[in-house]
Amino acid sequence: MDRYQLYEVSVQDPATLLAFLLRLHGGDPRVLAEDCSGTAALARCFADSHPERRALALDLDAEALRRAAHPRVQCLHADLRTQPAMPACDLIHLGNFSVGYLHTRAELLAYLRWTRKRLAPTGVFTLDTYGGALAYQLGANERRTRLADGSLLVSTLERVHADPWTARVVDHLHFTRSLAGATIEQLTQAFEYHWRLWTPMELKEALQECGFAEMVVHTQLDQPWRPASDSIDDSEWVALLAARGHAPV
Ligand SMILES: C[S@@+](CC[C@H](N)C(=O)[O-])C[C@H]1O[C@@H](n2cnc3c(N)ncnc32)[C@H](O)[C@@H]1O
Repeated sequence: MDRYQLYEVSVQDPATLLAFLLRLHGGDPRVLAEDCSGTAALARCFADSHPERRALALDLDAEALRRAAHPRVQCLHADLRTQPAMPACDLIHLGNFSVGYLHTRAELLAYLRWTRKRLAPTGVFTLDTYGGALAYQLGANERRTRLADGSLLVSTLERVHADPWTARVVDHLHFTRSLAGATIEQLTQAFEYHWRLWTPMELKEALQECGFAEMVVHTQLDQPWRPASDSIDDSEWVALLAARGHAPV
């Protein structure tokens, strides 16, 4: 398996994410944009969910986009900061901490203003981020996935650099696959990420400034538009922020 395949099976769960995005939307969305899409797993899942649904997948990485081939997924090989032309979108998702590629507040605001403009009147924009008291501590988190052939895939996200002064982190993603205890595949530093860690509060303020009317932070994909409870573990969390341009009735 190559690094993109290993990433998809260990890191992504587009079906679960899409089910929640559809509940957030609450209607019948027809156009989804996946920004920083990588192989566009979410975009393809959306297009597969209904013959009249189509998606746009935007990424800098041509090799990742080659994996996105689907008759109703349009690939845009571009930097999201250049704001390529797009039709109105019912759902826009910026996933797997990719908001962290926007390193300055000016870049963040420009991106959010553009996103507000391309969002259909009843559309929903979502992004995710991580944080917590341990977010600037060096270390690694492991995730274990049993694959259909019986092999065990361990993906390790290692924080190799973290600077709370600048809110910048560098993370590496490694993969090890083993079968019956023997390593059959090892990819060290398969992906490297240089992110700025935005806090949910910074993101909410920026969204508001860019014309979004409602922003809700979800720490679990269960109750759409219900704010996260205070009982979450403050040490380390992943959050999905949902925003829409219209206030709910
Ligand atoms: C962490 S991966 C996310 C992949 C996928 N969206 C997911 O949810 O797992 C980040 C992706 O963002 C892309 N990327 C980074 N900077 C970008 C930029 N300025 N414009 C467009 N894509 C970018 C990378 O090529 C990579 O495919």
